[in-house]
Amino acid sequence: MTSPLPPLSTLPRSIYPPSTYPPPSHFETTVTYPALIIPARRTGEIQKQLQDLVFQEPKRKRVYALEEDVDYSKEDLDPSDGGSSASKYNPNLERKLILTRLGPCEDSDSKYIDRVFQDSRIQYLLCSAESNSDETILTSPPGKNAIRTSSIRLPSSPYNLLTVDQVLRHLLPTTNEKASNGNPVIEEIPSSFEVAGHIAHVNLREEALPYKYLIGKAILEKNQTKIRVVVNKIGNIENEFRTFPMEILAGEGLDLNEVERLCACDINLTDGQNSNESNVQFKIGPEHDSLMQVELKEHGCRFQLDFARVYWNSRLQGEHGRLVQQIVEDAARKCNNDRPNPAKITSIRECVVADVMAGVGPFAVPLTSALAPHYHKTPIVCHANDLNPISFRYLKKNAKLNKCFSGRLEMYNLDGREFIHHVNQKGLQIDHFIMNLPAMAPEFLDAFRGWEFKMISCPDELTLQQRPVVHVHCFGEKSKSSDDIARVETQVLRRCETSLGCPGCLSSGDKRKENLVSVRVVRDVGPRKNMLCVSFILPLEVAGVKKLVLNNTNGNGKREREEDNAQISQKLKKSTSS
Ligand SMILES: C[S@@+](CC[C@H](N)C(=O)[O-])C[C@H]1O[C@@H](n2cnc3c(N)ncnc32)[C@H](O)[C@@H]1O
Repeated sequence: MTSPLPPLSTLPRSIYPPSTYPPPSHFETTVTYPALIIPARRTGEIQKQLQDLVFQEPKRKRVYALEEDVDYSKEDLDPSDGGSSASKYNPNLERKLILTRLGPCEDSDSKYIDRVFQDSRIQYLLCSAESNSDETILTSPPGKNAIRTSSIRLPSSPYNLLTVDQVLRHLLPTTNEKASNGNPVIEEIPSSFEVAGHIAHVNLREEALPYKYLIGKAILEKNQTKIRVVVNKIGNIENEFRTFPMEILAGEGLDLNEVERLCACDINLTDGQNSNESNVQFKIGPEHDSLMQVELKEHGCRFQLDFARVYWNSRLQGEHGRLVQQIVEDAARKCNNDRPNPAKITSIRECVVADVMAGVGPFAVPLTSALAPHYHKTPIVCHANDLNPISFRYLKKNAKLNKCFSGRLEMYNLDGREFIHHVNQKGLQIDHFIMNLPAMAPEFLDAFRGWEFKMISCPDELTLQQRPVVHVHCFGEKSKSSDDIARVETQVLRRCETSLGCPGCLSSGDKRKENLVSVRVVRDVGPRKNMLCVSFILPLEVAGVKKLVLNNTNGNGKREREEDNAQISQKLKKSTSS
């Protein structure tokens, strides 16, 4: 089957406007279903009687009213009636059509349709209805009690039941055969998307861009109750707050007339002009502010956020849950089991977490919500920080929404390094640091240089240095085989220990054990790239390294080492592209 779309070359902007989306009937092939026409009042009884012979497919009707525009191929009202009773009796109202599961079959195969009605239970039903008809002949118009064989043409898979993938497979030129109208073949069906509240978010490849409005429409139509707008990422994350530019492909906020007009415009590219510049793009602007306000749920907590201005990634749901769970379990152990001599402990210290790049709170909120099941049993205090003032605002909002009371959740709008220095200077005994800024978090470990470990008293009268566990998210190379895992792990551990200023403190054999170092793959982010989580107990050696001097660049202490961060980003960009 060829793609139902006209050749791309005939379109002025080489981009399909939304109006080229075919009507639902284009996606459907109709087939013939053998059916029975029965008295409406016997519908329930006959369904029971025929049980496994009655059509059963999820979300699909099996009983139909008789309607004028439906083709009941064998429907014939009693000819003896001659229309005389039509005024008193409307057979279409008093009879129903019930689909059997003996089909579907080819329209032309009437012999097959006849054969399927040979089933003994159907035969019995047909005969008994015939013989019973005499009993009611005096009170019922002719044909009213009859059961007849029939058939009906219906879509084999109605449009409303097709998935986005099925629709796009039908629409896009995925094979050479389908691309016979000259359109380039699409290698991968772009049917996957992320959902954040009412926003569906895609990341289309270059090859799919001519079809972007059709893809947006398919996603919107197939997810009507949940999705209000479909957006496409344009360009890479470039700013420090990890947000990215987006365009609208479908839904509220997209002026369809304007898209049609622009797609219909011929444009002349001058030499050297990038062909992308010819693309019609409806960027997310201030006029979409209210549309970008999202509310969603994760791990039982409610989150509100501005999708265009803060970082949110639904794919991190698993990682959020895993780390929260790990910290809650650790806190519970601390409360209950890690006390060799409980009699000597006079007060239970809560578990203290510092979330250095907290975003809108997907770790901090579930850890401290009064609605969380662990709230009363396992006290956790979280100090949550984010540099993005808009994230900070939503963090506060989400804290309120989820009953994270002050005393349990403290919030900061600082640079990550300043925040790390701040908690140390305040003498807070942090049990877990969370650092989820994968492009740069390892470099932020330099803020632990010169760390002042707090002394804690132990039941056996000893004092120990309290050492926090640090969880650093970062990107790393994908290992090529199981033998290659150690090389990739060493690579990221070296990056972390260099930043801590203590070479070997994480990667060398003894130190890996001593500092309980682990490297875990969080998720696949590209053909050669994984997101990783490196966890370790802060090595004691960092205490002896010269403390970093922070340079406030904007005078209010909120942004430090901005140039350093920009340089690091540049370096990382270079190293990943090379
Ligand atoms: C990848 S997001 C993670 C957010 C959150 N932890 C999550 O899992 O959704 C990184 C966050 O770091 C914040 N950020 C970027 N640079 C920062 C810095 N120098 N100090 C503190 N936070 C920073 C961004 O605003 C963003 O919210």
